[in-house]
Amino acid sequence: MNRKQFFKTSAVALAGIAVSGSFLESCKKSTSGPQGPTVNFTLDLNASKNAALASSGGYVYEQGVIIARINSMTDGFIAVASACTHQGCTITFGAGSQSFVCPCHGGAYDLNGNVTSGPPPYPIKRYSVTRNGNILTVAG
Ligand code: FES
Repeated sequence: MNRKQFFKTSAVALAGIAVSGSFLESCKKSTSGPQGPTVNFTLDLNASKNAALASSGGYVYEQGVIIARINSMTDGFIAVASACTHQGCTITFGAGSQSFVCPCHGGAYDLNGNVTSGPPPYPIKRYSVTRNGNILTVAG
């Protein structure tokens, strides 16, 4: 291979690398919005596994969602995705701070799922909660 052939071959190889790099970049999943599973389920407030929801500040988990009792809200319940968007730890509800908190690295989210402190890069998804008697429907 002479000098001219070498430069021609190198230029073609570099162009191929640049094109494949931009292609891979465009294939990345967009993850800038609220993060959480798509769900549609019901909870029976009379079931013993949901007894924590009888008290303000109590919470339960179901299908990747944390449902908390918050009496300051009109409907009294709020549901958000339970996996922290930082590294996936399961969040809890802080009744005193009225926020969702992550025990792993101090991440915190407000009642709408927006990040208020710590390393989480994205909000968590908030779900609609409707009550019909003792049945809660969580969807979103
Ligand atoms: S996993 Fe939640 S703050 Fe790191």
